[in-house]
Amino acid sequence: MEKTRIAVLVSGGGTNLQALIDAERAGIIRSGEISLVISNVKDAYALTRAKNAGIESATVLKRECRDQSDFEDKLVSLLDAHKIELIVLAGFMSILSESFTSRYKRRIINVHPSLIPAFCGKGFYGLRVHEAALSYGVKVTGATVHFVNEIPDGGEIIMQRAVKIRKNDTPETLQARVMREAEWKILPLSCEAVSKEIAKQKRGKLAMKSAL
Ligand code: GAR
Repeated sequence: MEKTRIAVLVSGGGTNLQALIDAERAGIIRSGEISLVISNVKDAYALTRAKNAGIESATVLKRECRDQSDFEDKLVSLLDAHKIELIVLAGFMSILSESFTSRYKRRIINVHPSLIPAFCGKGFYGLRVHEAALSYGVKVTGATVHFVNEIPDGGEIIMQRAVKIRKNDTPETLQARVMREAEWKILPLSCEAVSKEIAKQKRGKLAMKSAL
């Protein structure tokens, strides 16, 4: 079976990228292959993780682009050149326009460090999400993987996992636990589920062609 070609878009440390790499090695992701990593931050450690795993990578910097549409055109050229079929946003800290997201309907997934619809949308990213959860006083938080559409964190939910808040949690301890107990588990599982679905659709199309 031909595997779904995956691109992972990153901006930072890339622990979610690492979880995907490890899951592919462990056979948890078996319907897809990570074929490209794109960073919008020059020295993101995620790029070193890609290199160590032997995965091709590229950097697209906003400041080197004329505007958002130029930035997205550059992303599209890279994605096309690598025949990418599934885009995974793994700590990618840049909002994509409707013209980009509508081009890849149900082909972009994102991991967010809360139980959507809590603590999500514009302005909620990284540590800020955990600060907000703690200051609100919720007793349970978690992570969500969802399809990406034109609404920030507004696309259909694929998977969620809850994480209990502890009395002495700081934003940092909570972030670490949400990553370990939720994000690094549900992102690879969602990635496999969506890759499998895309691979199935491809087989269906091929079968239809050969029947004609
Ligand atoms: C992760 O916690 C991810 O859920 C979050 O940024 C972190 C990236 O860490 N993403 C968002 O907040 C997006 N709204 P990583 O680079 O180590 O994977």
